[in-house]
Amino acid sequence: MASGKHFKYVVLGGGVSGGYAAREFAKQGVQPGELAIISKEAVAPYERPALSKAYLFPQNPARLPGFHVCVGSGGERLLPEWYSEKGIELILSTEIVKADLASKTLTSAAGATFTYEILLIATGSSVIKLSDFGTQGADSNNILYLREIDDADNLYAAIQAKKGGKAVVVGGGYIGLELSAVLKMNDLDVTMVFPEPWCMPRLFTAEIAAFYESYYTNKGVKIVKGTVAIGFDADANGDVTAVKLKDGSVLEADIVVVGVGGRPLTTLFKGQVAEEKGGIKTDAFFETSVPGVYAVGDVATFPMKIYNDERRVEHVDHSRKSAEQAVKAIKGKEAGSAVEEYDYLPYFYSRSFDLSWQFYGDNVGDAILFGDADPSSAKPKFGSYWVKDGKCVGAFLEGGSPDENTAITKLARAQPPATSPDELKAAGLQFASKI
Ligand code: FDA
Ligand code: NAD
Repeated sequence: MASGKHFKYVVLGGGVSGGYAAREFAKQGVQPGELAIISKEAVAPYERPALSKAYLFPQNPARLPGFHVCVGSGGERLLPEWYSEKGIELILSTEIVKADLASKTLTSAAGATFTYEILLIATGSSVIKLSDFGTQGADSNNILYLREIDDADNLYAAIQAKKGGKAVVVGGGYIGLELSAVLKMNDLDVTMVFPEPWCMPRLFTAEIAAFYESYYTNKGVKIVKGTVAIGFDADANGDVTAVKLKDGSVLEADIVVVGVGGRPLTTLFKGQVAEEKGGIKTDAFFETSVPGVYAVGDVATFPMKIYNDERRVEHVDHSRKSAEQAVKAIKGKEAGSAVEEYDYLPYFYSRSFDLSWQFYGDNVGDAILFGDADPSSAKPKFGSYWVKDGKCVGAFLEGGSPDENTAITKLARAQPPATSPDELKAAGLQFASKI
């Protein structure tokens, strides 16, 4: 039986939030031996967004140590040595299977125990699997998901093994769009399948989606909308050969990539901590209902001050900032100094093929498209504003320069009064640039 270890601070989860929390602890000052990061992954914290993009590129794919945190936000790269130099214990390949908040004890799958004074929950999300819904044949070989670096390695190997083959991508969200593009770049014959009338419905309007769908179609990606996968055929080896759709059609497949959403990893804490909107409820300092226990990143449902409501956000910018805020709050409490409330402006982005978009604010109210949304343009640049109660509350921009993206950030924060839809459409980016 492995022996127990005690730390003043334990971060459970060595993903994006875990890495940014470590940097903030180091900035604020920790003594050697005070802080441990426990992760079931075998590698030090890294910038997860790379996995669905450069990690799978056909040429010069990104590999560790190139994208350890905090390079994604332009910071210093925290190599494994950095943690040892700072006296921060990186406990890798260690899955925690039991958390007892009353006795402040975590227990690993191997039976090791870790006790703490302050706990930061940064467990992120797990993928929703088609086998969770009992989809027939969903556990055939080469039906793949993407969350962690091991998944990306499996995917990379399958891409190499099935060169020139057929790939079906199930899901029309972030993973669906980013993976369809990267599989196409690897010369696979790609078909995307999703149930909604257009892709990325949680953010895109029909007009925005029409641009991306045409762009993808021009690149040779086939898109099947309004239906779902109800089963899979496999050969005698158990390798997937076909995807059966609810509309009765059948798609041949050598690889299937599934991106049908994530689920925040909160199960270890069920019944021990207050939950809200599927996540662990926190205050503006990311402290949960249990004093001394904080939750950050994908798992936290926190007060979104700007909109006066509570939300959970599954994006990297928030995972970095929430981790920094929680550590500032922890250290501020110890020092008796005040820390400002978290005042987050939602920021989402994606990149695929030669495209790159950013979104800031809230996508509620009426959407007004502006700019050149012609997918066959040499350099398409277009955007959308969202107007609610006479105010411009959100902005989306494809192909923006750094200055233009800064302009839409300021706009979403300022929420200026909107002019008429026709004037907004005509003014386009000029409207944001004047803020
Ligand atoms: P994260 O998932 O990063 O880390 C959680 C860590 O906890 C993992 O290391 C996990 O193994 C560990 N863990 C969980 N349970 C554990 C247990 N019981 N014991 C031990 N360890 C445990 N966002 C964005 O804004 N732009 C983008 O381009 C992308 N791209 C992107 C690509 C891909 C492939 C994914 C999966 C996600 C994105 N995202 C994104 C989303 C973004 O990466 C995500 O919101 C953050 O990684 C969340 O950070 P967390 O630290 O909360 O979880
Ligand atoms: P998502 O929520 O973005 O998209 C899920 C999609 O699954 C839906 O849009 C829908 O089209 C589809 N879907 C749902 N049920 C289905 C079914 N039964 N059959 C077929 N399709 C179905 O989730 P995701 O794309 O899986 O991404 C997982 C996580 O990774 C999310 O937290 C996401 O934010 C994150 N991520 C973010 C980025 C980014 O921000 N650029 C990139 C990759 C991943």
